[in-house]
Amino acid sequence: MELPLKLKLAVENQTALSKHDKLVQDAQGISEKYRTSSGQGKRLLTTSNEAVAYSVVRMPATFCAVYSALRYTLNIIDCDIKTLADVGAGTGAATWACDSLLDLNNIVCLEREPAMLHLGQMMMCGGSEALSKTKWLQYDITKDDIKDKMDMVVASYMLNELNDTERIKAIDKLWNASDKLLLIVEPGTPVGFSHLKKAREYLLSKGGHVVAPCSHEGVCKLLDDDWCHFTCRIQRSKLHKKLKGGDAPYEDEKFTYLAVTHEKYDNVQSRVLRHPIVEKGRISLVLCTEENIEKITISKKDGDLYKKARKVQCGDEI
Ligand SMILES: C[S@@+](CC[C@H](N)C(=O)[O-])C[C@H]1O[C@@H](n2cnc3c(N)ncnc32)[C@H](O)[C@@H]1O
Repeated sequence: MELPLKLKLAVENQTALSKHDKLVQDAQGISEKYRTSSGQGKRLLTTSNEAVAYSVVRMPATFCAVYSALRYTLNIIDCDIKTLADVGAGTGAATWACDSLLDLNNIVCLEREPAMLHLGQMMMCGGSEALSKTKWLQYDITKDDIKDKMDMVVASYMLNELNDTERIKAIDKLWNASDKLLLIVEPGTPVGFSHLKKAREYLLSKGGHVVAPCSHEGVCKLLDDDWCHFTCRIQRSKLHKKLKGGDAPYEDEKFTYLAVTHEKYDNVQSRVLRHPIVEKGRISLVLCTEENIEKITISKKDGDLYKKARKVQCGDEI
């Protein structure tokens, strides 16, 4: 997929005054910090240059991950979402993704770092009516309460920055601030998934309904050395290539997500968990079903099911 044109322009406009060499340096610095200092409750993105570098190198991927996770969720739930809180909003990628799929009329972005907040706010001036009216508030989830309830709360790539004791308290705040849907998106790594597995157990114990990606609300059947994650593909800009290196025209982002609602909906019957293996006349799929994690092979003889299986991708229902 491609970023919406208005977001692409907003990112480009913000980089106009920055020196490219400095942006390359900051982009490398950000990668290094996330590799070594995540999950400790540390402040990782504090300067305006880092915020600009983040918007170029990470916003496309986080936009794409939230867009994909929300699209899967909206295939299952049928509810009218008009108001949104984006917590740990950074430069606003998750909000741009939600705005692309929902008809929002009231958005609040809560973010701890002033540099991220100011850049995100400026970029949204060039977006839709709802984006340009978004309220941006400085907010620390480890200290502050979320004042207003919103139909939907999204937290994207934020929980993994908190330490273990802060994380469950934060999930509680996110859940209590949501009226209809809480969507959490995290990096598609074993650590990212382990945070969501704990969040899943906690939110089920609070009466939440896990609607996606799971095919059921029972105990997650994935073994301890396995993790549930999906991939989305986003086009790269010239500047993205310059800052991150390489000349591939697109980037694949691995993400994991959890969508929890206050109302009950029917889960999918089964969801594809790995890239389908396609061989002559047959397709092998790993599926999450209510009973188990199952590996099945569908052959041409299966008729319609085979036709369907040829079109599915990792993350789709079947
Ligand atoms: C990796 S960025 C993700 C930004 C955005 N949600 C996205 O998906 O692109 C994580 C963001 O969470 C913010 N953050 C980290 N700890 C926070 C806290 N305790 N309270 C509020 N925001 C926090 C960081 O400042 C940063 O902007």
